Amino acid sequence: MTASERIDAARERLGERLAILGHHYQTDAIIRHTDARGDSLELARSLPGAPVEHIVFCGVFFMAESAAVLAQPGQKVHIPDLQASCVMADTAPAGLVAAVLERLNESGRKIVPLAYVNSSVAVKAVVGRHGGSVCTSANAPAMLRWALDQGDGVLFLPDKNLARNTARELGLSASEIEVLDVREGGANIRTEDFAGTRLFCWPGVCSVHHRFKPEHIRRVRAEVPDVRIVVHPESHPDVVQASDAAGSTSFIIKYCREAPAGANICVGTEVNLVHRLAKEFAPGKRIFPLLESECANMAKITEEKLADTLEGLDDAEPVRVPLELAEPSRLALERMLQACA
Ligand code: 13P
Ligand code: SF4
Repeated sequence: MTASERIDAARERLGERLAILGHHYQTDAIIRHTDARGDSLELARSLPGAPVEHIVFCGVFFMAESAAVLAQPGQKVHIPDLQASCVMADTAPAGLVAAVLERLNESGRKIVPLAYVNSSVAVKAVVGRHGGSVCTSANAPAMLRWALDQGDGVLFLPDKNLARNTARELGLSASEIEVLDVREGGANIRTEDFAGTRLFCWPGVCSVHHRFKPEHIRRVRAEVPDVRIVVHPESHPDVVQASDAAGSTSFIIKYCREAPAGANICVGTEVNLVHRLAKEFAPGKRIFPLLESECANMAKITEEKLADTLEGLDDAEPVRVPLELAEPSRLALERMLQACA
């Protein structure tokens, strides 16, 4: 039997006990087996009501962890490869986040943490304990506005690009935004220099989106004069500024769908999604990538691993969230789901 046939057989056997969720950056080979696919926000939202026993999450580990936090009692969350991490999330270990937050709060100002969903559950727990919340690329403007209203400033982590793009959208000036030096546990941060700062950015980036440069945009515009360029907001602010639109993966899909027939659309995001859009909308629209940039961690989820996971599901160890992290991280996630209901 092929891996695909093994997956079909396991799904048949498990029936309504199982839901397979997939992020838009998964390959077509995986996406065709999913019950639901979406951007990070849609996937998080789909969880609380899902009446199934097993949720198999095809994405990266922080997504499966968030799913485990939001799962109902008795529900088990699995991921086909536990090594599917996120390089951006890995730049913000929880101990360092807590130390930097403490350092910022030494000034006497109340600095509220806002964690991009691309962060570990331990980081979300730190954020939850300090009155903060979580955001995704789809709701970052609304959540940053929310966080700014909660105190005297915001620590946004770990993506400095999403932080600065969102701040610009809300009208913050450059002098109100600071990218932090988080080395030495935050010892280099001189809070006295930051009296006018409202947004402190963690210095993390996404290795997939940070590869896009303004010269790539210039080259495409020179080659295809009527091109429309849409990018993900994890891209550098100069790239976002040079594009026609920016938004989450679901926004990008909608942008391509709503573009008129005959449009030439260049997309700056993970290449599995771009290739899928190109196929879906051909021949009426021409869709092509700004650069062939693949997320090596998303690609760790293969049909073989999905088949192995499904076949061993009843005996498998699900993703577990330590009890002391579950409550505060749920609080942080639920604040987001409530603020953006
Ligand atoms: P969204 O699907 O929420 O836009 O997220 C993109 C991403 O990088 C997920 O890792
Ligand atoms: Fe992380 Fe970027 Fe991969 Fe998303 S695309 S999982 S942010 S490395």
